[in-house]
Amino acid sequence: MPSIQVNDERLFYVHRGPAALAPAEMPAVLFSHGAGGTHRHWLPEVVAAGALTRAYALDLPGHGRSTGTGRDTISGYVEVVRGLLDALGLDRAVVGGHSMGGAIAQTLALTYPDRCAGLILTGTGARLRVLPAIMEGVLTDFSATVDVIGQYAYGPDAPTDLLRLGREEMLQNDPQVYHDDFLACDRFDIMDRLGEIRVPTLILCGTADRLTPPKYSHYLHEHIAGSTLTLIEGAGHMVMLEQPAQMNEAIARFLTGL
Ligand code: COA
Repeated sequence: MPSIQVNDERLFYVHRGPAALAPAEMPAVLFSHGAGGTHRHWLPEVVAAGALTRAYALDLPGHGRSTGTGRDTISGYVEVVRGLLDALGLDRAVVGGHSMGGAIAQTLALTYPDRCAGLILTGTGARLRVLPAIMEGVLTDFSATVDVIGQYAYGPDAPTDLLRLGREEMLQNDPQVYHDDFLACDRFDIMDRLGEIRVPTLILCGTADRLTPPKYSHYLHEHIAGSTLTLIEGAGHMVMLEQPAQMNEAIARFLTGL
């Protein structure tokens, strides 16, 4: 897995696709994971999008194999992603994100519109309040709270192996990093600013998502001009891992239409 220095942190990422892109070609795509996640959540989509363009998914600082510490604001993570775009030599990219990663992507589109060629907003919203029991629980009873998150995070048909792997991965997090991710989500609210987003936007959500319910995605769709909404039947919050084939079909259609 390659890594790259961004300021004083070393960020790990996966990538697929051609080594270099001609300026006229489809822009690269960069995916960010959600609270307490890693690049693994986007692996099926990076592999599939790599057949069309250069595709990346990173481990945010303090997550997975990246060094450094997490942030407790979305704008803090936006600076990380912008720094990674710089370090990778990408003037513009389609920015994708899941849950907290979707908040990062939306905020990057608002803060650095010239760096954002499009948005892929997955299992996310314009406001991401977090259940106090989850936010505090990761610090007071980490293992039990990871179980609670696991119960909310998947649709009814998700295979038990996926749930087991997800639980093992969540338990590897530093509880403080996880807490600060949730704090960043809880502080995030751009409900009134979506009209300023002017880039092509694909919105994806599982119909059985209980952490960021489809209502949030409908709101994004209603307020981001020209956006496309694709609901994935039966999938929960971890829709990228639960239904990668349907995700990849929607993403490929979006990217080829840019
Ligand atoms: N898009 C559209 N509508 C939204 C929204 C979004 N992103 N976020 C909140 N709303 C709506 C709610 O549905 C609610 O509508 P209602 O009054 O018609 O029921 C209203 O805005 C206020 O909701 P909220 O700001 O969330 O405050 P709350 O006090 O009602 O609820 C929680 C707080 C934490 C209980 C609730 O947000 C929740 O259950 N969150 C999901 C669980 C979670 O922790 N997810 C993790 C996300 S990373």
